[in-house]
Amino acid sequence: MKGRVLIIAGSDSGGGAGIQADIKAVTALNGFAMTAIAALTAQNTEGVFGIHAVPVDFVRLQMRLCLTDLGADCLKTGMLATAAMIEGVVAEIEANAAAVPLVVDPVMVAKGGDRLLAEDATTALIERLLPRATLITPNLPEAEVLSGLRIAGLDDMALVGRRLLDKGVQAVLMKGGHLPGPQATDVLVTPQGIERYESPRIATRHTHGTGCTLASAIATGIAQGLPLADAVRRARDYVLEAIRTAPGYGKGHGPLNHAHTVRSS
Ligand SMILES: Nc1ncnc2c1ncn2[C@@H]1O[C@H](COP(=O)(O)OP(=O)(O)OP(=O)(O)O)[C@@H](O)[C@H]1O
Ligand SMILES: [Mg+2]
Repeated sequence: MKGRVLIIAGSDSGGGAGIQADIKAVTALNGFAMTAIAALTAQNTEGVFGIHAVPVDFVRLQMRLCLTDLGADCLKTGMLATAAMIEGVVAEIEANAAAVPLVVDPVMVAKGGDRLLAEDATTALIERLLPRATLITPNLPEAEVLSGLRIAGLDDMALVGRRLLDKGVQAVLMKGGHLPGPQATDVLVTPQGIERYESPRIATRHTHGTGCTLASAIATGIAQGLPLADAVRRARDYVLEAIRTAPGYGKGHGPLNHAHTVRSS
């Protein structure tokens, strides 16, 4: 085992996304997962049926106890729900993890359409969290909200990614899962240039938690010392195989097979 990842995100009772997907992805890639749970969701493959907020100070306490004892090689944020939570998480990072790489998955809306971030929290996300980020991983609707620009195709992904660098992030992975077409294309934008990653789009409804899983898999690679482009490539390969071998549970957006790297004997 190598690479300590502290995840700050929401819990998904259904096990497909959120903290549960994060822990599974980090573990499946041989990393060590720690968590500061920022919200509880009552959720399954059909939707989010309840959200129970965790007090900001308690989230900070979870973070602080992990950071000051076990230590972290990478942080990953997911669902943070409110502006106050974003402020608190940033304050704790500044106090105890200022030099630790940070992957921000700017979660706003769940796959089924339920809101996971208050509308008035977008400003806090842009002004407080993005300038601290080593990498952000927006899907296309999130990239549109963060940039204020429309994305109609692949060329726009690179353009908007570059505009998001202006917000102070070091790198942007624009995820193309929401674009139609036979390929799923993600675009990594850094000040050094642009890298495109293409994989065959799998026709399936079992894509619950793809975004959480991808971001945590990348964070694991960073924690293990992989160069960013390699961490992204390995994470995409991991997610693709997890979609391809999804178990088919549930009546809605089903979970992935996070365990495809685990040998049963
Ligand atoms: N049907 C698919 N086939 C292959 N790859 C996919 C498919 N859907 C998504 N991906 C890949 O999964 C990763 C996550 O992308 P996506 O755009 O689905 O994120 P997301 O919308 O944030 O997901 P979530 O709803 O779980 O938060 C990307 O690397 C994307 O290319
Ligand atoms: Mg997402």
